[in-house]
Amino acid sequence: MDYIGSKTKLNKWIFDNIQKITATKTILDGCAGSGAVSRYAASLGYDVMASDLMKFSSVIANGSIGVSDIQLEEAKKHIVKLNALKGIKGFFYNNFCDKSTPARMYFTAENAMRIDHVRQEIEKITDAKVKDYLLFCGIEALSRVSNTAGVQAAYLKKFKARALERFTLREENVVKGNIRSYTYNILDLLPVLNKDYILYLDPPYNQRQYGPNYHLYETFVRNDSPVANGTTGIRNWKAECKSSFCVKKECLNFFKEIVKETTAKYIFISYNSDGLISLDELQKEIPGLKLLDKMLYRRYKADTSDKRKYDESDLFEYLLLVEK
Ligand SMILES: C[S@@+](CC[C@H](N)C(=O)[O-])C[C@H]1O[C@@H](n2cnc3c(N)ncnc32)[C@H](O)[C@@H]1O
Repeated sequence: MDYIGSKTKLNKWIFDNIQKITATKTILDGCAGSGAVSRYAASLGYDVMASDLMKFSSVIANGSIGVSDIQLEEAKKHIVKLNALKGIKGFFYNNFCDKSTPARMYFTAENAMRIDHVRQEIEKITDAKVKDYLLFCGIEALSRVSNTAGVQAAYLKKFKARALERFTLREENVVKGNIRSYTYNILDLLPVLNKDYILYLDPPYNQRQYGPNYHLYETFVRNDSPVANGTTGIRNWKAECKSSFCVKKECLNFFKEIVKETTAKYIFISYNSDGLISLDELQKEIPGLKLLDKMLYRRYKADTSDKRKYDESDLFEYLLLVEK
């Protein structure tokens, strides 16, 4: 799945740095998103806690880490049956396709009906791990056929080629390991954790909220038939998962509160030189915060020559460390 800010390509760099600082093998991935960091950490042998404001994130983490071979075998049989379902007219059909009222072209009517049917059948599965694995496969399938330009805050006016393909679950890869997953605002989770762990935070760094951009995954997982308002039909994300990291007036204090609340000795933060809060401000306001490493992320100017020195307009991915 394409996920804004995914750390898939940066994981090795992040964990090479973390392992230079601490040998602790329990980590809280506090803004887990697509679960890419959690999966990488599990593959390195960490005990992983994954949490995010959005529920689909915790389902992906639980469904893609530590699924046993027996559970995978059971899930494979379900996938064959799920892919053979004819489709029913449910929430996705009534709200998110070319035949819904109003028409919202996120999916073809045939795929929307298949999504509804698959979701209804997954709900009947009693093994929570198998269920989350199938939801994870369903999210990936949904991502392949959704008629969007990546994020889900809007749909395209004409069906693109991939949206016309059949909604089909595949047997997605999993990693071995230990995972506990949560749906929490990070600040609310910290007080209930009382053991030694590494806190890794990969928060949004600009105003772009994740709720409206991934509402289809959230509704698929929650299966709660929310009110779908207006042209885009986006659920009430402001009430559910509005993030203080995306609000300049709130962001710095939010960082400070997290640092105060956590019992972790080491807090690693992924951030960006284009973030709402500058590195200078973070260092001034959060005692002990330092820049551990940085990586060139994008050059603004046409000159991409490696020989050219970095300048102010280059964008950097930061890995920050606060040691308490
Ligand atoms: C940059 S993405 C994380 C990407 C993730 N590391 C990955 O590799 O896929 C930021 C995530 O932070 C989550 N988030 C935003 N505010 C949060 C908060 N207050 N508590 C927990 N999660 C939050 C968003 O829902 C989003 O999934």
